[in-house]
Amino acid sequence: MSKYVVTGGAGFIGSALVRGLLREGASKVVVIDNLLTGHAENLDEVRPSIELHQIDIRDYDAIAPILRGADVVFHEAAIPSVPRSIQDPVPSHQVNIDGTFQVLRAAAAGKVGRVVYAASSSAYGDTAVLPKVETMSPRPKSPYALQKLAGEYYCNIFAQCFGLETVALRYFNVFGPRQDPSSQYSGVLSLFMRAILERRSPTIYGDGEQSRDFTYVDDVVALNLKAARAGGVSGRMFNGGNGGRITLNRAWALLQQFEGVELPAVYGPPRPGDVRDSQADTSAACTELGHRPQFTFEQGLRLTLEWFRAHPRK
Ligand code: UD1
Repeated sequence: MSKYVVTGGAGFIGSALVRGLLREGASKVVVIDNLLTGHAENLDEVRPSIELHQIDIRDYDAIAPILRGADVVFHEAAIPSVPRSIQDPVPSHQVNIDGTFQVLRAAAAGKVGRVVYAASSSAYGDTAVLPKVETMSPRPKSPYALQKLAGEYYCNIFAQCFGLETVALRYFNVFGPRQDPSSQYSGVLSLFMRAILERRSPTIYGDGEQSRDFTYVDDVVALNLKAARAGGVSGRMFNGGNGGRITLNRAWALLQQFEGVELPAVYGPPRPGDVRDSQADTSAACTELGHRPQFTFEQGLRLTLEWFRAHPRK
């Protein structure tokens, strides 16, 4: 019998991962989530098949017995958002660095088979060359980017010094169903979804020509499952992106086209800590983890739009 633990399993990416594990036939999926940014409703229809613990990853004594003996721990719990980490750096520091340390410590003590860690493409910062390759030096531009990078380094150190298998995946702007659009810190595409369906103009920070490698959530789930099993990769970090590059102006234009409406965006000043362009080199993930992204940006965007249409604001 295999046991999987997903920290942040009630969040947008974590809950998709829980579904992915159950689809694969996992016999036991355990979720740890403090429900700060996650929502129990994200797990509604799978609730009978999982175990949900509403606890905080910073609480070592609470998480240690839950992690003990797990085959794989997927560590998705975090306080995301670049601007949030600038406006309110203490909670994100505590959860993203201290919390990650406690997860790794509990995993090592509990003889967990492997930890797969949700790292972030923000660690690259602005690079002179695109796409961004794992061998490039990191240049974090915000507390969030630094915190996620520290977690990555900690994963490597736990592999080197404490005999814990770890793999870090640098996610590139993941989007899809259940991404929460309710905060100013929400991922831009979830905000665009709400705006287009409510026939409102979105705010674009900067000129809208900044670009992102928007990655559909099911591709990230598939990558995690590969990273959980691949041999000879412990201590390593891989890009978790799609390999494309879409500007915000293009993404908003596509949504207007899908809906057959004209709603020009409102432009505001660029956000501090913002990276200009982001695009993943996916070669290492493809060759060494056997990854193959399945969803084009447009396919993912249509699926996401349909999900948001079917789940209007409560
Ligand atoms: C960053 C990371 C990403 C990580 C995420 C977690 C990079 C390249 N990516 O995302 O891997 O998962 O943090 O939070 O660093 N924007 C608008 N209008 C809005 C909201 C955002 O124009 O209403 C703009 C932002 O200024 C930015 C882009 O949209 O240029 C994307 O923003 P967001 O979705 O917050 O993600 P990143 O900060 O790129």
